[in-house]
Amino acid sequence: MRVGILTAGGDCPGLNAVIRAAARRLMSEGHEPVGLLRGYRGLAEPELRMELDDRAVSGILHLGGTIVSTSSFDPFMEPQGVERVLAAQQSHPLDAIIGIGGEHTQWITARLHEQLGLPVVGVPKTIDNDVVGTDYTFGFDTAVQVATDAIDRLHTTAQSHDRVMIVEVMGRNSGWIALYSGIAGGADGILVPEIDTTVEELVATIERRHNKGKNFSIIVVAEGAKLAFEGQEAEQILASEETDEYGYVRLGGIGAILGQELEKRTGFETRITVLGHVQRGGTPTATDRVLATRYGIKAADMVMAGEFGRMAALVDNKITSIPLTDVDGVKPIDFEILEEAKVFFG
Ligand code: F6P
Repeated sequence: MRVGILTAGGDCPGLNAVIRAAARRLMSEGHEPVGLLRGYRGLAEPELRMELDDRAVSGILHLGGTIVSTSSFDPFMEPQGVERVLAAQQSHPLDAIIGIGGEHTQWITARLHEQLGLPVVGVPKTIDNDVVGTDYTFGFDTAVQVATDAIDRLHTTAQSHDRVMIVEVMGRNSGWIALYSGIAGGADGILVPEIDTTVEELVATIERRHNKGKNFSIIVVAEGAKLAFEGQEAEQILASEETDEYGYVRLGGIGAILGQELEKRTGFETRITVLGHVQRGGTPTATDRVLATRYGIKAADMVMAGEFGRMAALVDNKITSIPLTDVDGVKPIDFEILEEAKVFFG
């Protein structure tokens, strides 16, 4: 079989580990893996392909990024996208396709299977850990480690200067990274997109800490967190900001807005750190390499067994598979863990 392997959407530490594992497993059974470059663009444009032989997948296990590159190309949105995919399948046929990506990629993969009848298999990927149907995605552990290292460093400088430190982490739709790095880093407040947090709550937490003699605080905020303001004042504060229909700030710069407000209301000096893409780059942790390897082997096994239209998934620490049609929406954080984190707030 000639099997296309692609990575789509945002990159993530561990992608190369999946590619290596899937390619090696396929080659061990006499199959021929092919890298489709720039995500689904490589499915529509046969010139964007590379051989994934033994040499190509050697020495890549520990590397961040993706050797086959990535993009957000969506054949269902591009002009003539579907026609180009079908034409490429005629001229350069693939017997199977492994699509490694997040929620939107899995949605494309599901449609390719359902609507075009393509033999596809999905592998979940994202540092955000928010793909429905799987307990963990690779890349998440690495992102949490990066964020935790940053919080540790901010802790010591916050303490020296009696400052409030705001750490903005990734997580547009879910707060997994904020939750885990907040707990691991001993945060005094964690803001996630799944739950509204008011500025007043945070001010009270910081003031309680100061009254107890703790002159610094660390607040971890997911980039997609919702920040609510109680009372009349909210309208004035938010008048100049972009807000959603509920009056919540939904900007990339939520850390900056929160920092400004906290400094104004508590009178404590505040600094803001936005971690950004540093969470997505570089070497995957050992945990992510193991998970990515397990997903890669499973995807190859699914291809060889003809289990198309499904996504490899981790359920109760066992690698299994679920229908791609079940991968719908965003997996929210575990609210019990958030309750546990609150024990340490202020
Ligand atoms: O990989 C998911 C994610 O990290 C989100 O948390 C973040 O909002 C987004 O990617 C940003 O990606 P990009 O800058 O590539 O659009």
